[in-house]
Amino acid sequence: MRLKDKVAIITGAANGIGLAAAKTFAREGARIAMADFDEETGSNRAAELSADGYDVAFFQVNVADRASVDSLVQNVLGYFGKIDILINNAGITRDGMLHKLSAEDFQKVVDVNLTGVFNCAQAVVPAMVQQGSGRIINTSSVSGIYGNVGQTNYAATKAGVVGMTKTWAKELGRKGINVNAVAPGFIETGMTAAVPDKVIEQMKMLVPLGRLGLPEDIADAYLFLASDESKYVNGTTLHVDGGIMM
Ligand code: CAA
Ligand code: NAI
Repeated sequence: MRLKDKVAIITGAANGIGLAAAKTFAREGARIAMADFDEETGSNRAAELSADGYDVAFFQVNVADRASVDSLVQNVLGYFGKIDILINNAGITRDGMLHKLSAEDFQKVVDVNLTGVFNCAQAVVPAMVQQGSGRIINTSSVSGIYGNVGQTNYAATKAGVVGMTKTWAKELGRKGINVNAVAPGFIETGMTAAVPDKVIEQMKMLVPLGRLGLPEDIADAYLFLASDESKYVNGTTLHVDGGIMM
């Protein structure tokens, strides 16, 4: 019960890594706001966790839309009474080589992966400052650290997330709020299911552990950064990628 009675907002919790995080956090005693654009899947997954006895509720949100994020935060405060942890996990890809990438696809990824992270953090911080404690965990990527063919837009946002993480760690540390990031490698979710097999095989060969990661591998890293065991960890980016690049 490493998160007993902690209230966590997890964005992108309907699928993939966010869903695994919701399950892991629930088992550790957290009360969870599962926030996602995908209302149907998200509310079904939340209902399943509630039926298992966990304190979980679904909230529909578009992280790219500030008004939607503000409503999310107000609704979560109304429902759970506080916010201890924000997992900024929602993200999208719109891959394309630089010469083919449209301005729309560049902007769309920025809106969700960069502005979305900013929106959610800015919206939860007043409540965390008021209670004098909080954890914000952002999701970067191996692509943001080392670059990746076909991911101009995505890599830019995931590198930007690292910069925001360090900045907020400096701004918010004295207010009792730790801010860290996780940089996953290639993880088996819907996001990587769209990657051509040839690229996946190449990636597997580059990973010293010899496999793609599982959503639970990232959920465990979120758990560490949300728990008391990381109370002196601030501003770091934890690479959870099987050692794909060092
Ligand atoms: N390394 C080196 N060269 C590569 C490459 C790679 N990883 N991927 C593609 N290329 C090369 C191709 O071999 C090809 O070379 P030639 O022109 O000499 O034949 C050239 O780049 C163009 O490739 P495509 O023919 O595939 O071009 P396309 O326009 O049809 O598609 C693409 C481009 C959409 C980027 C497609 O290659 C693709 O989907 N690649 C995978 C991108 C990727 O890794 N995305 C990760 C998604 S998962 C995720 O984002 C999670 C995370 O955080 C890691
Ligand atoms: P996924 O595609 O399985 O799940 C993403 C979730 O985010 C979906 O439920 C989707 O509905 C939600 N979402 C998308 N746009 C949203 C929006 N505007 N508002 C609210 N919710 C929205 O993806 P996955 O793999 O679980 O990714 C989770 C995070 O991990 C993302 O930030 C991704 O960039 C990052 N990541 C994933 C890696 C991978 O290999 N799967 C590797 C590195 C980072």
